[in-house]
Amino acid sequence: SPRIFSGIQPSGGLTLGNYLGALKRFAEKQDEGIETIYCLVDMHAITVWQDPAKLRQQTREGAAAFIASGVDPARSILFNQSQVSAHAELAWIFNCVARLGWMNRMTQFKDKAGKNAEAASLGLYAYPALMAADIMAYHATHVPVGEDQKQHLELTRDIAAKFNHDYGVEFFPIVEPLIEGAATRVMSLRDGTKKMSKSDPSDQSRINLTDDADAIAAKIRKAKTDPEPLPDTLDGLKDRPEARNLVNIYAALAGMTAAEVIAQNAGAQFGTFKPKLADLAVSVMSPITTEMNRLMQDPAEIDRILGAGADRAEAIARPILDQVYDITGMIRSR
Ligand code: TYM
Repeated sequence: SPRIFSGIQPSGGLTLGNYLGALKRFAEKQDEGIETIYCLVDMHAITVWQDPAKLRQQTREGAAAFIASGVDPARSILFNQSQVSAHAELAWIFNCVARLGWMNRMTQFKDKAGKNAEAASLGLYAYPALMAADIMAYHATHVPVGEDQKQHLELTRDIAAKFNHDYGVEFFPIVEPLIEGAATRVMSLRDGTKKMSKSDPSDQSRINLTDDADAIAAKIRKAKTDPEPLPDTLDGLKDRPEARNLVNIYAALAGMTAAEVIAQNAGAQFGTFKPKLADLAVSVMSPITTEMNRLMQDPAEIDRILGAGADRAEAIARPILDQVYDITGMIRSR
């Protein structure tokens, strides 16, 4: 039966991109009745420097964002990665399965390491093997993510297949990425060719899950656009990245397709469309922000939820790890 795993890094404030590309869909999968396991990947976060106090705060804020987005810790498993040691244990084994040539092709490493790759951490390089371990420690079959994680999931499939082949077992499932909907790649509000990201130096480029209604409306009003009105057909958005981005955001927020949004707004000027989008964004995002703030009043309760989730996660992952040790020839005698 299908089992979903996905994760989010608590490495900074979350954005509308994380919400539409991930959190909203995580809640939908849970509501479809699929078994869902969701993780704040704090060990991935420290592949680049994290201030310890901020990491703790961001992990709690991330957990609050999951819950405020509709992930119910009673129906989904919600926890932080470092509380379940199976992730780190399986990651080591996958480090020994993955090939240097595979890792060298990872575009996210190249982007994040930048020009001075010699100064990047070894963890940043091994990052995708830990991600494969996150998923395979639960024998998850489906992984909802945004477009930017596609290459990492292909690597996960390659690692699982090589493990199965090398040890002559059919042990790890070959996962299916779920990259669906209108907002698999939400772009910057300042540059339609760049991904909306928590690490962009310009706060105007993104909507943060902590932004209040005024900030959301102002950022959408000031979003970069071209001077043309909206086209009559989807095709007309082809070479208009900023316009296409706003249409996609509208579609994802409204639960519509981009084609439906175009059909309803054909010929509209941005002077009309932007206020409509701002109202929609505020009406969807404000209740989430309010709920996040409420949950953040009680950090002990968030920690309790993460701990209880980790217990349930551990109960699934530990027997799988026991089998991995057996398959790989590690003596377990105590
Ligand atoms: P992270 O923390 O960068 O992002 C979390 C999720 O949000 C999606 N996302 C976006 N979707 C649409 N538009 C955007 N602008 C946008 N920005 C981010 C990401 O695609 C992701 O789904 N490596 C992962 C975390 C991870 C993971 C895992 C995911 C660790 N282990 C196992 C799945 C399964 C990451 O850095 O996501």
